[in-house]
Amino acid sequence: KLPSKVKIVDVGPRDGLQNEKGQVPAEIKIGLVHRLQDAGLKEIEVTSFVSPKWVPQMADNAEVMAGIQRRPDVRYSVLVPNMKGFEAAVASRPDEIVVFGAASEAFSQKNINCSIAESIERFAPVAEAALAKGIAVRGAISTAVGCPYEGDVAPERVELVARLMKQIGVQHVGVADTIGVGTPKKVQAAMEAALKHYDIDHVSGHFHDTYGQALGNTLACLEMGVYHYDTSSAGLGGCPYAKGATGNVATEDVVYMLHGMGIETGIDLDKLIDAGKYISDFLQRKPNSRASTAILNK
Ligand code: HMG
Ligand code: MG
Repeated sequence: KLPSKVKIVDVGPRDGLQNEKGQVPAEIKIGLVHRLQDAGLKEIEVTSFVSPKWVPQMADNAEVMAGIQRRPDVRYSVLVPNMKGFEAAVASRPDEIVVFGAASEAFSQKNINCSIAESIERFAPVAEAALAKGIAVRGAISTAVGCPYEGDVAPERVELVARLMKQIGVQHVGVADTIGVGTPKKVQAAMEAALKHYDIDHVSGHFHDTYGQALGNTLACLEMGVYHYDTSSAGLGGCPYAKGATGNVATEDVVYMLHGMGIETGIDLDKLIDAGKYISDFLQRKPNSRASTAILNK
């Protein structure tokens, strides 16, 4: 069942940089996006149109979107929590928007200040308006295996949110292990739950690597045939409302694993390592990627 090709969405500019203490200048974010597309990434999550009071790091959303030299074969996505965010995002011409809900009530409240049911009510007009404009709609299901406030999350919770997202026209869902607590069988169960409402072409894995499980979890989902993953250049990332959670699995590490398995990504690993090095140098730290470290130390 292993796929022969995998599609990677690099979420570093968004998931990665939303969680940095300091403000990363728009110019650097644009530089990262350019390096990622040079490395062969075909999908990049650029920014989010959320409240700047909640996440000041993404307040430069429109400036970043306007500064990117777009390529016709690259899909640029942005996070949108509500109609206000959607209206602001439209002016930036994203190819895809991402509505983000959660499988746990407590996380939904902390992250987007509403219940799961209310979030779906907010997302419904957003999805409708986006589809009417020809903008693709993806959904993220946070805390799909564990919640920083509620602990373990049952697959039934994921199934419920997947069903609700499907009902409002969300075309693709990502199963997100926000705090990286999942292990392969748990993540497979969460993915199975999403697959009750979405087919294999419309699900993805979004694994934070807090407990070092993300590559294993990726392999577990590859074995189910899942071929879309969100990963983050240099392992950047985290969520401001999930304290202590580290970044997404590093794109470099996933690409190294996939290429080693003979699975195509279309990504040039050396150029990708340069992209991760560029942002890590700016942040004055080493890339949080084992493959990058190993290759740079050779
Ligand atoms: P709220 O306070 O309940 O919203 O926040 P509100 O509708 O009551 O509005 C309050 C104020 O915010 C108003 O301004 C609105 O205009 C403004 P004021 O009148 O006080 O001056 N506002 C906005 N401004 C800009 N853009 C908007 C927007 N909406 C309202 N879109 C809200 C609700 C959802 C806005 C808030 O909770 C929020 O912005 N949350 C974002 C949280 C976030 O970005 N989290 C990180 C991304 S999710 C993630 O990382 C997980 C993921 O990676 C998957 C995984 O790993 O799990 C995707
Ligand atoms: Mg995330």
